[in-house]
Parts: sequence; structure tokens; C-alpha cells
Amino acid sequence: MRISVIGTGYLGATHAACLAEHGHFVVGVDTDKEKVTALSEGRLPFFEPGLEELLQTHLASGRLRFATDMVDAADADVHFLCVGTPQRPDSMAADVTFLESAIEQLAPLLERPCLVVGKSTVPVGTAQRLGERLARLSPAGRAVRLAWNPEFLREGFAVQDTLHPDRLVFGVSDSDSEATLRSVYSTQTAWGVPVIVTSIPTAELAKASANAFLATKISFINAVAELCDATGANVLDLEEVLGHDSRIGRRFLHAGLGFGGGCLPKDIRSLIARAGELGVGHAFAFLSEVDVVNMRRRQRVVDLSRQLVGESFIGRNVAVLGAAFKPDSDDVRDSPALNVAGQIQLQGAHVTVFDPKAIDNARRLFPTLSYAGSTLEACDGADLVLHLTEWPEFRALDPGELAQVTRRQLVLDARNCLDQQRWREAGWLYRGLGQP
Ligand code: UDX
Repeated sequence: MRISVIGTGYLGATHAACLAEHGHFVVGVDTDKEKVTALSEGRLPFFEPGLEELLQTHLASGRLRFATDMVDAADADVHFLCVGTPQRPDSMAADVTFLESAIEQLAPLLERPCLVVGKSTVPVGTAQRLGERLARLSPAGRAVRLAWNPEFLREGFAVQDTLHPDRLVFGVSDSDSEATLRSVYSTQTAWGVPVIVTSIPTAELAKASANAFLATKISFINAVAELCDATGANVLDLEEVLGHDSRIGRRFLHAGLGFGGGCLPKDIRSLIARAGELGVGHAFAFLSEVDVVNMRRRQRVVDLSRQLVGESFIGRNVAVLGAAFKPDSDDVRDSPALNVAGQIQLQGAHVTVFDPKAIDNARRLFPTLSYAGSTLEACDGADLVLHLTEWPEFRALDPGELAQVTRRQLVLDARNCLDQQRWREAGWLYRGLGQP
């Protein structure tokens, strides 16, 4: 099929390359000229394992190309909307203006029947408004259909999650749209990936509620970690105990510095805001608490760090390992690691950050922090080492080697995943969160 993908960020670029992998002819359209140039030359403007190879394969196969002009999308049979819906600067709600402008540019070019498919995470009810605008602005009118097909990919696993999703959700209002989506995803459905066909509002809510549930699970175990800190109990053992219960499950039940990134924080806030607008805000009051528990993790790490270095950061050197919001990503949006690094610096410490992939993005966002080219350089002369993003290379560190360059052997493992016995044996004072 001929497909356009509008918006080529983490979601759109991955989706476009994976559609080409499944045999479709795809054009990715983005207003950002630099991004389009990079993608057209086979360079990924962000870090995502496996994606650059896939991009190069399909630029070469001729099934994938990129453009800045929406006219290049005009003759596609299916148009996927993959633009961002960030949090609005003035409220907790999501900003859907990028979607609105994509529709405004695309609709006047649609002269024959086709399907426009929203993938972005949106407040429930957005699709209906967009659909009306689409029908009004398109020369083909109501022959242009709208569907919603939320995307559940995780950064760091974007290619795998897109090629082999746990499920596909088709939010449609007519059987032709469902048939078109089944053709787009015929490879996955042939593999047995479950398809759930829903109404459009249900599909909009599918993504919002999945992310709210994941955030709740993380904050739940972090609340338990607070209780552990108050009682001397061990959250790692509790994760094991709860995780073995198949009704609860082990994943997303890991206590630490909490969640960040471009999705979970803004998606729970958008759901709270939308529920309030719809008169059911009371049902989601707990989600505000999920947000508060999560943000308190950052404060807890700052407070514990200050306590560990002697109740004041002034004159202290702090090494921060990790800047991305999670490993295998260079994304620093709402990064818990950078939030902690920034707060500690503002309280008088000299903070040096190292991250395997996110230094450039971190420097742009927090230019006043110091950045190192390696873990050893970041830890040189440190009074405290903070482990804030669990990159595999930090877990593989040799604590004995690190002890040669630090001023003191103090480590706070805010992701609760270093081998603490090894660190203690190498002479370090190891502290985790929710562990005695
Ligand atoms: C999330 C959803 O998982 C994905 O389905 C959706 O499409 C987009 O939002 P992503 O933001 O890429 O994906 O990251 P995810 O792997 O969900 O991690 C989110 C945050 O939670 C990270 O900061 C991570 O460190 C944290 N986390 C995750 C925990 O603190 N504990 C856990 O047990 C799991």
C-alpha cells in the first residue's frame, strides 16, 4: 500500500521504517527540514537501537522516503498522524495543536477516498473534532475516513514493539476502515498478533489508560519503598514476593527514582485534566497522587544525597551517572536524572554528568551542569556517585577501579540495580532506595 506518516519523531520514524519493512511504500513527512535531511541520508536524529539499520535498508529498497512538503503525502491510501501531543505550558492538558495543523495541511490535498489514522496519544474526544474538520476541509469530503490506532511502543524497544506488538487496537466507525487497517497490518495479524476492534473514543482511551496503569504500578511500588525506608523492610524482596503473584506480575514493579520521559508524566496529567472536563475528575483523584509519589522520588534522592555528604552540598563534588530518562535512549524529556542533577547543583554542589548517549541533549537542556566523556572522568574527585539511569555499562562497572579516582567511596543507587555486594566488598558505602 502507499502510506504517508506525518511526524517523524520517535514514533513516526519507527512506524514509517517498520511499515516499509512490511512491504508498504512509505513517505514520512515532517516540517523540520534538518530532520528530513538526516533521515533521507540514512542518519537517525535520535538514538534508538536497530532503527538506523532499518532506515538504511528501506531507503535502499526504495520503499521509504522523507519529505517536508505535505504534497508528497497527497496520493497515499492511508495517512498516519504521528505528531507530538506535549503537555500544554499553561495547564495539565495535552496540546493537540500539532495534530490540528497536520489536518489543516493534509485535508485540502485529499481529493479521493482514503483513510487518515491517528496514532498520537490524545484526550478522548479529540478524534471526533478532528474528523469533522477533516470532512469539512477535504475536497473528497466524507469519503475521507478517520480511524484511531494507538501506539504502545517503548523507547529503547521501539522497533521490536512496532514489528511485534502485544496487540493492535483499531478504533473505527465503519467496516471499510477496519478492512484497510487489516491490510496495513496483514503481516502482524498473520503472525497471530491480537486485534481489538473498538469505537474511536475507546481507542483514544486505550493508550491513556494503559499508560495511567503503568504509572500507577510504578508509583505503588515506590510508595511501598517509602514504607520500607520508614521501617527497615526491603522493597527488593517485596518486588519478588508480589511479582511472583501472576495476578500482579513482575514488570513495571521496580522501585527507584520513578518514571519520566515524554509519555507517562504528561499522559497521566492529560487524563486527569480530561476526566475533570468530563465531570469524572473524582474517579481519577488517585492519579494526582500517583504523580505526587513519583515526583517525591526525585526529592528523596536529593535529600538522601545531601544527608550522605554531610548535610550540605557546598563544596562537594557529585558524579551523576545517567542523564536520559531511561537506558537505551537519548531522550531527556522530563528526565528524573537531570532533575536531580539540577537540584543538587542549585544547592551548591559541583555536579558532573555522564551518559552513554544523552549528553548532547542534556547539555542543550541544562547547559550549566558539567559533562564528562566517561564514567571515570565524571567520578574523578567525587564525594558521592549517584546512579540515576540504569544503563548496562553502569551495572557492569568495576567498583574497585572507580574507587581509585573518587574522593570518597559513597554510592547512591537510585535505580536499585547495582550489585551491592560487589560494591560493598570493594570498600564502598552502598545506599539504595527502600532497602536497609
Ligand atoms: C511508555 C509506555 O511503556 C509505552 O507503552 C508508551 O507507548 C509510551 O510510554 P516509555 O516512555 O518509552 O514508554 O518508557 P517506559 O519503558 O514505559 O518507562 C517509563 C519510565 O518508567 C522510565 O523513566 C523508567 O525508568 C520508569 N520505570 C519503569 C520505573 O521506574 N520502574 C519500572 O518498574 C519500570
